[in-house]
Amino acid sequence: MKAIKVDLAERSYPVLVGENCLGEVERYLPSSAKRVAIVTQEQIGIDLQIEKNHKVFTIGTGETSKSIDSVIALCRSWVDWGLTRSDIVIGLGGGMVTDIAAFAASIYHRGLEVINVPTTLLGMVDAAIGGKTGANLPEGKNLIGTFWQPKAVICDVDTLQTLPEREWKCGYGEVAKYHFLGADDMRGFSLIDTVMECVKVKTRIVAEDEREAGTRAILNYGHTLAHAIELENGFALAHGEAVAVGIRYAAQVAFHMGRIGEERVAYHEEILNHYGLQMKLGERIDPQRALLLFSRDKKSKPGLFTFVLDGDLGVEPVSFYDGNILVKALEVVQ
Ligand code: GLY
Repeated sequence: MKAIKVDLAERSYPVLVGENCLGEVERYLPSSAKRVAIVTQEQIGIDLQIEKNHKVFTIGTGETSKSIDSVIALCRSWVDWGLTRSDIVIGLGGGMVTDIAAFAASIYHRGLEVINVPTTLLGMVDAAIGGKTGANLPEGKNLIGTFWQPKAVICDVDTLQTLPEREWKCGYGEVAKYHFLGADDMRGFSLIDTVMECVKVKTRIVAEDEREAGTRAILNYGHTLAHAIELENGFALAHGEAVAVGIRYAAQVAFHMGRIGEERVAYHEEILNHYGLQMKLGERIDPQRALLLFSRDKKSKPGLFTFVLDGDLGVEPVSFYDGNILVKALEVVQ
């Protein structure tokens, strides 16, 4: 088993990556905890072996369950069970589970400790690390949430054995992203080393900018197009699949701005191809509609588009007025 520290002073915590390491959870349960609330989904089907008094709380599947209603339902069932501030919550599942479990933990009794146990590749390399929690509103994804760092993150790659093909792709969409954020070339790495390399990059970025005042925005590489199409009904792409197309699109935007050359664009495509990722949206998005959605992105400033773009100084957030470049770059991914 390998370990890496998320260095955040008194909020520092370890991320463990290995095989058959779910038993490690026990080590991070505080002695004060009398009860352990395990939040998961029915189909995850993983039993954590915990000696302390524990109870499983399930949440629904699908984006509609990623709601404040799920957060409130959890909190209410914790009250029923008698969960107190000295107890602890475990989020056991994909990004949706760890986001909702940690969101509920962050507001229950004004904040309860949480351990994240991600069971998807996407969760291990991104969602479970860094303390962002969130729920959707009808108006958009992850529009409400908190920053609430976990006490530990335990990534047991054995839990990925039954991961469906599409979920692997989603995870690899995020893995591809790290190739442009300073990760070593992970092609040829084992699964554990791939997860570790992504975690290393993410923990470094989170340690520099926990609350996304600046640098942390680069973790959104490829996400502006992804978020836009995720808002559109009809696009059947899952998050990581949309991120992959978004990375290709971001390379095109950077190319049309003269920030990167053809070789670098080709390198983006080579990485996406290596992970067998989708390169096109699969259906057309009206360019004017796309511009409107881009302008509503959380990163955007009034009257400007903001994209995370590659360039001589690496990947960085860039704000600009000219929507024509964004329209032109769309041609390649339509
Ligand atoms: N998933 C982006 C972040 O953690 O900042």
